Amino acid sequence: MRIGVLTSGGDCPGLNAVIRSMVHRAVAGHGDEVIGFRDGWRGLLDGDHLKLDLDAVSGILARGGTILGASRVRPDRLPDGAERVGSRLAEHGLDAVVAIGGEGTLTAARLMADRGLPLIGVPKTIDNDIALTDVTFGFDTAVSVATQALDRLKTTAESHQRILIVEVMGRRTGWIALHCGMAAGAHAVIVPERPFDIEELTAKVRDRFTAGKRFAIVVAAEGATPAPGTIDFDEGGTDVHGHPRFAGIARQLARELERRLDKEARPVVLGHLQRGGTPTAYDRILATRFGRHAVEAAHRRDFGTMTALRGTQIITVPLADAVPARKTVPAARCAEAACVL
Ligand code: F6P
Repeated sequence: MRIGVLTSGGDCPGLNAVIRSMVHRAVAGHGDEVIGFRDGWRGLLDGDHLKLDLDAVSGILARGGTILGASRVRPDRLPDGAERVGSRLAEHGLDAVVAIGGEGTLTAARLMADRGLPLIGVPKTIDNDIALTDVTFGFDTAVSVATQALDRLKTTAESHQRILIVEVMGRRTGWIALHCGMAAGAHAVIVPERPFDIEELTAKVRDRFTAGKRFAIVVAAEGATPAPGTIDFDEGGTDVHGHPRFAGIARQLARELERRLDKEARPVVLGHLQRGGTPTAYDRILATRFGRHAVEAAHRRDFGTMTALRGTQIITVPLADAVPARKTVPAARCAEAACVL
């Protein structure tokens, strides 16, 4: 069999572990050939590729980023995208293409599969918001990085009796905020799923100071917004790919809390730090299992599906069911944490 692979969308720790695992299973296990396309769908559309043999994937298991490069180009957004993908597949004699990516990539893979192309998806995103898989790889690493940062920020916040508003990634879902907030014992957490009440947030922080505590840590997912009409809030615009480009919730909340509480409040934006560097052991294992199972799915000709973690098992689920659904933080999980609703 000849299998193509690409990594698309925002990068995420564990991408290289998937690529390595796929090559091991395909080349050493089945005697297949694997080629990788550079910079996601862009490489497939342009025929920009490299051969992936065992040597090419040696030593990449623990490396962050992706040896293939990534981009946010999507064939389903180009008028002739599906035709170009189809002719590249024929040109390279490919029997299957594995697209490793988040919501946008998997949506594109689904649409290509709907047109009869042999696409298989592998879900990745630090946001952990893909439906029908319990977890996506990259999430555990992002939560670990953010938790370490919060642990460090607590000590400096305490020294200076400050409120720190720590902005973590999470455009539409608050999984990272919820988990790192719980792990580090944040005093308030706000998530995009539920517009927050500024009065409740202010009261929560004020009560802490009234009780004699000398600092407070608020974790805010970048996509969180206040309840409509409560405070002046700049939601930002969108980037060239139509994704939200936020105006900075931490900065805006720090200003608001400082004004309301007469305490020094500072914003801290963790940003791409959460996506960079070596994956945790958990993410390496999940990514490695996804890679192996994607190759097995290709051999079963189980196209139009993606790998998923269900309990302890890796299964495949139809892409049509996984996207455009989204896995959001349920109210019950929020109730267990210091969420401000
Ligand atoms: O989807 C993953 C993600 O890391 C989001 O959490 C974040 O909002 C976005 O990507 C950032 O994208 P970019 O790197 O293109 O700014």
